[in-house]
Amino acid sequence: SFLDVVVNNSISLEGYGACEGTLTCSTCHLIFAQADFDQLPDKPEGEEGDMLELARGVTDTSRLGCQVF
Ligand code: FES
Repeated sequence: SFLDVVVNNSISLEGYGACEGTLTCSTCHLIFAQADFDQLPDKPEGEEGDMLELARGVTDTSRLGCQVF
């Protein structure tokens, strides 16, 4: 996932991925360009969709980075 990329490369983004991918924080919120969003194999729904609603500045092309593989 995008969260794994951040963690595995020791990228310092303060607070990013606070729940470590357990879908309880929304700090891994990402906003994709429409063209990139359209190429993702799935769309946010279920638990991701519910948690995404709590993210700040959510857009039609938002995803939670811990759920994008
Ligand atoms: Fe918490 Fe993605 S890391 S919801």
